[in-house]
Amino acid sequence: MKERAKVAVLISGRGSNMAALVYAAKADDCPYEIILVASNDPAAPGLQLAEAEGIDTFAHPHKGLNRAELDQIMHEAVTKTGAEYIALAGYMRILSDEFVSKWQDHMLNIHPSLLPKYKGLNTYQRALDSGDTQAGCSVHLVTPELDDGPVLAQTAVAILSDDTADLLAERVLIAEHQLYSTTLAKYVTREMDPNWILAEVRKRALALEETYERPSFGAPGWRVGSEKTGKYFAYFSHRHFGETGTSLFVKTSGLDEQSALLDADPDLYFAPKFYGKSGWIAIRLDTGRTDWGHIADCLKKSWRMVAPRRLTRMLDIADEF
Ligand code: GAR
Repeated sequence: MKERAKVAVLISGRGSNMAALVYAAKADDCPYEIILVASNDPAAPGLQLAEAEGIDTFAHPHKGLNRAELDQIMHEAVTKTGAEYIALAGYMRILSDEFVSKWQDHMLNIHPSLLPKYKGLNTYQRALDSGDTQAGCSVHLVTPELDDGPVLAQTAVAILSDDTADLLAERVLIAEHQLYSTTLAKYVTREMDPNWILAEVRKRALALEETYERPSFGAPGWRVGSEKTGKYFAYFSHRHFGETGTSLFVKTSGLDEQSALLDADPDLYFAPKFYGKSGWIAIRLDTGRTDWGHIADCLKKSWRMVAPRRLTRMLDIADEF
């Protein structure tokens, strides 16, 4: 199995969601591990629990610090451990934009409502006061706006006729404990999910001028030019063309460039059996560490090699200056 994703959890209090993440991570096939539990309150009960589970803890009181100062302290504590993700679990501090942008797409939060409903506090009472028939919880990516990032998953919890905010909170918490670990597990393995990978490639391939998708031997492929005379500049292979794993085939300028790439990074590149002799190169997309900027560049280079001259002329002229 690939190495587990390293996750730091930030808490402010009880830490029952953190505990749920920790216990779920004890399963052999859990794709993440909790390597740090940090808090803005040294007396947070969750810290004791984490320590007893053998997890490193860190606490720094927020008193007397402004938002940016506390965030910087937390950021340093978290990065020191090598964490790749942060899971906020009842961390009741508003985060600075700098901190959020440092952890963009790598920081998740759990919130006790069916977002976008009831951001902020008192979510249960607000759901009751509105006469809702359902409350619930959401796991979302953290963006600068409070409780506003893309929702990754939600669980709805039915409201009972004699519910109080406390009773409802108890049931929502049960749902939270299950939702958080499954969503986090899915999220940290998204880069291994062929459908997710394909969608990322597709987005970048179709962003190039005059491109369209057409399958080739059952694999998704992208062409540039007209429907009739267009040419392929990329193929997506998920166990296609006699290969294992998931990869992208793009054109190089020829066999010299192909062998230079193979020499430079044999873990990333290989010569596709089906197309290799004509200078196509395969780039592995299932390492879990794909550099998507690099993939976009490779697609563009390949596109440029086969695109009609009327599309590349301006680029060629620009290159001369
Ligand atoms: C949880 O219900 C969590 O959803 C909520 O605080 C509680 C923390 O409990 N978070 C928020 O309201 C964030 N806006 P826990 O410490 O036992 O996990």
